[in-house]
Amino acid sequence: MNKNTWDDMLLEVRDLKTQIKTDHGIVRAVEGVSFTLRAGQTLGIVGESGCGKSITALSIMGLLPGGNARIAGGEILYRRADGKMIDLAVLAPGGAEMRAIRGNEIAMVFQEPMSSLNPVYTIGDQIMESVLLHQKVDRVEARKRAITMLDLVGIPASNQRVDEYPHQLSGGMRQRVMIAMALSCNPRLLVADEPTTALDVTVQAQILALIKDLQSEFNMALILITHDLGVVREVADTVSVMYFGNVVEQADVARIFKNPTHPYTQRLLKAIPRIGSHEKLQQIDGSVPSAYAARLGCEFAARCLETREICQTELPEMKPVEAAHYVRCWQREGATGTTDK
Ligand SMILES: Nc1ncnc2c1ncn2[C@@H]1O[C@H](COP(=O)(O)OP(=O)(O)OP(=O)(O)O)[C@@H](O)[C@H]1O
Ligand SMILES: [Mg+2]
Repeated sequence: MNKNTWDDMLLEVRDLKTQIKTDHGIVRAVEGVSFTLRAGQTLGIVGESGCGKSITALSIMGLLPGGNARIAGGEILYRRADGKMIDLAVLAPGGAEMRAIRGNEIAMVFQEPMSSLNPVYTIGDQIMESVLLHQKVDRVEARKRAITMLDLVGIPASNQRVDEYPHQLSGGMRQRVMIAMALSCNPRLLVADEPTTALDVTVQAQILALIKDLQSEFNMALILITHDLGVVREVADTVSVMYFGNVVEQADVARIFKNPTHPYTQRLLKAIPRIGSHEKLQQIDGSVPSAYAARLGCEFAARCLETREICQTELPEMKPVEAAHYVRCWQREGATGTTDK
């Protein structure tokens, strides 16, 4: 049950800005993302390719790519198990506190399982490594735990498979191993970045059901990043719709589907295929602007069918359209054209 008190607030991201320096200039990958997450709840983050979903996740984890990405502003407030509130945005990514949190209190399932599983170690060794790092157990106990985790994620013959290498497993199995690794320390928050995109539909459904089961068993909060609004509808409690580095709409899942308000969300929903429907699917014409482009006005204006003059020149703020439902759009009720904060 959602008590809606400040006490069960687990994570609050405020106006996060993350930039990546490249040879061609600075990519403003995340330009002001805010959301909150309560203990045990699921937040779905949706948006098309390149809008900053993975970089948001990696910012939370202190795992930004290379030495050229940095958090340029905002806060990532996380309540630790002992109740202490800390700002992950200012913790040293390689420092002791972040290492105690990452992989232990907060774990991540990465978008590319092969790039995060090491091909030269068995999957058992890789799960054991995480257990040994964070828990006071010996190797025998850690191996038992690795086998239990493989059982839990539905890998058959776990006591043999534990000694196999990643290339000996199918894509679905590798994804399960990633989940087993992430859950081996019983995290309070799991960040799952497109955990099922590379899989066929039946395996996808199994993995999502598995994540949901494990979530209720361990009372774990979940940030689920996906392109797939159908998945969000099944799994999430609240939804953040991202467009080009910003959250443009945020609400609980029922409101997003019943009353989608931002023009981008409305068109995303019209692009979901429905069984039995003969309606033509609507594509969203145009593409996300260049990441290097100077920012002026609403990022969606170039693709929006309802733009006004102000949309080209000023970025709207997130404003409420109904209780617990926020939208960043000049056209919508509440977005009055002023920046009165
Ligand atoms: N290592 C990197 N170096 C330079 N730019 C990067 C790097 N990683 C991401 N970016 C850029 O940052 C922006 C946000 O990327 P991000 O990976 O967060 O998108 P995404 O929403 O996760 O997309 P997808 O759905 O394709 O996974 C994009 O413009 C991307 O090109
Ligand atoms: Mg991504």
